[in-house]
Amino acid sequence: MNDERPGWPLNLESLEALAAELLERTAYDYYRSGAGDEITLGRNRAAFSEIQLLPHVLRDVSEVSLETELLGSRASLPVAVAPTAFHGLADPQAEVATARGAAAADAVFCLSSLSNTTPEAVADASTGPRWFQLYVFRDRGLTRDLVERAEACGYGAILLTVDAPVLGRRERDVGNAFELPEHLTIACVGDAVEAPEGESGLAAYFASQLDPSLTWSDLEWLAGISSLPVVVKGVHRPDDAVRAVDSGAGGVIVSNHGARQLDTVPATVEMLPAVADAIEGRAEVLLDGGVRRGTDVVKALCLGADGVMIGRPALWALALGGEAGVRRVLNMMRLELREAMALCGARSLGDLSAELLAP
Ligand SMILES: Cc1cc2nc3c(=O)[nH]c(=O)nc-3n(C[C@H](O)[C@H](O)[C@H](O)COP(=O)(O)O)c2cc1C
Repeated sequence: MNDERPGWPLNLESLEALAAELLERTAYDYYRSGAGDEITLGRNRAAFSEIQLLPHVLRDVSEVSLETELLGSRASLPVAVAPTAFHGLADPQAEVATARGAAAADAVFCLSSLSNTTPEAVADASTGPRWFQLYVFRDRGLTRDLVERAEACGYGAILLTVDAPVLGRRERDVGNAFELPEHLTIACVGDAVEAPEGESGLAAYFASQLDPSLTWSDLEWLAGISSLPVVVKGVHRPDDAVRAVDSGAGGVIVSNHGARQLDTVPATVEMLPAVADAIEGRAEVLLDGGVRRGTDVVKALCLGADGVMIGRPALWALALGGEAGVRRVLNMMRLELREAMALCGARSLGDLSAELLAP
């Protein structure tokens, strides 16, 4: 399938400026923002640029395979769509369009707990591999119910987000008093709460509904009630990664929430090697944050990740082209990754290791 059409951006970074022209200003600000001074937002990208590849030559790369299995889901490339809230701000079909676009590209789609579409409606509309991202609500009955619903309608893993005991301060959202337009709801759990003056509505929602008292025992509880792999999303440190696996996690995701939570933490790709080393292959390791190029995927896999996820680029693509846009952005990643692997002399994902990186 040729997704390189005239007028469609040539790379992932170029999607944002075009999407900015189409989106409501408050929606664009919500999607793009990082926390605080956005130091980590820049760092997530810069750190990938600073890593250099050291390719092999003369290795017969006439066939390059990107096939893999991530958290038990088969995928045709090691790039999944990260869970992001409120796709209804970008497209009337919301998460249904994103899930269908990912399925058309044979990639995994992860649905956010803060979606505008129920897990059931996404499952009905798309046959592709899916994961469910979980926030733990103060109401544990509701939380358990969400896990059971995700299991019942065919989601393959639960991604427990642990880097958001409170919502990071994204100043544009505060300035915009960002809230969902009236026609959209947080579909899993009903309506958003009213924002107190001077706050973003999402921050108010977080504070009232989500549980900041979460500890490791809650991870054990979740791993105990779910028959699906529970993967801890938002790990920065090797000691926490090991503790997550010891507490029943089937994987960890090195993530700083797209630089939207604690500002001035390192880039995810800087944290990755220590986390992957500490895990010692006992569980899968994924990474997200600033992945925009096929070479970024190669670097993450060389440094110990089993796969990566993209957040904002899927939202820009959704705004630009709906379901087809999401398919295209994933196919762009596929083309870039295949080319980068061929130029590295790598025939399969198993060939990607630290020896392909300049010391
Ligand atoms: C607009 C937006 C909404 C997000 N919503 C969620 C969410 O609901 N749950 C979650 O675990 N992560 C959320 N994230 C974080 C993403 O899952 C992911 O970690 C991040 O976007 C990856 O970085 P990237 O955007 O640079 O690719 C959100 C990110 C963005 C940009």
